[in-house]
Amino acid sequence: MQKEIAKEGSIGIFDSGIGGVTVLREIIKILPNENYIYYSDSKNNPYGDKTKQEIINRCEEIFSFLLEKNCKTIVIACNTASAIAVNTLRERHKDIPIIAIEPAYKMVYDYAYDKETLVMATKGTIESERFNLLYNKYNNHKTKLLECVGLADVIEEGNEEKIKKYLEKNIGKYKGKVENVVLGCTHYPLIQKDIGQVLGNNITFFNGANRLAVHLKDVLIENNLINENVEKGKIDFFDSSENEEKEKRFYKFLKGEF
Ligand code: DGL
Repeated sequence: MQKEIAKEGSIGIFDSGIGGVTVLREIIKILPNENYIYYSDSKNNPYGDKTKQEIINRCEEIFSFLLEKNCKTIVIACNTASAIAVNTLRERHKDIPIIAIEPAYKMVYDYAYDKETLVMATKGTIESERFNLLYNKYNNHKTKLLECVGLADVIEEGNEEKIKKYLEKNIGKYKGKVENVVLGCTHYPLIQKDIGQVLGNNITFFNGANRLAVHLKDVLIENNLINENVEKGKIDFFDSSENEEKEKRFYKFLKGEF
């Protein structure tokens, strides 16, 4: 039977790897007095080219792990997992709030509708029904959708040279042709600077992490789940490949050292 959720529980957050750190960074700015459990599924990434069933299975395993650790809410800090699995997960786990990141395409509609836009995301996200609903609803008719196959992997690996080569090869052709870039994968804000260098200086970047953090706070308040007993929260990190290098990079990125 599901344990009762309590405000003293942690906030569970996961991604296919360490990219979700870009979401956690925004969350702790808004909710510093909470405890967090971050799960990086680097043994099983990338998620971007997995089937729907494979992604749902991975999410279920991670949910079990986080619920076992008494998490009071779960943040899906992976656009691909959100796009493909969140409806199923919400159906199956009705007793816990589930907060899910999505590409910040609506922000383009709200703030920069008339500009040429490039949405960068995984194949899984771009082909998902959920993203297509969002895209069709807020389409500014000046948007290119780019499936960045393998990019999350290259970022996860952390090889600067490979990242630069990947970007030159795959987005170099958009230099001077786009003004908005939607970072539709939580790994991409880690290389925002490199993307800017390839595309030119006038790019406005859109990233949904800050909005998610504000929404998470609202949901905790609505459900009476804000932890009032912690002065400064702690962050526990788990990685499915038990790779210590990942952990070091995670904490480095958490401090903003991209
Ligand atoms: N950070 C994940 C996302 O936001 C990367 C997915 C992958 O592993 O391909 O989509």
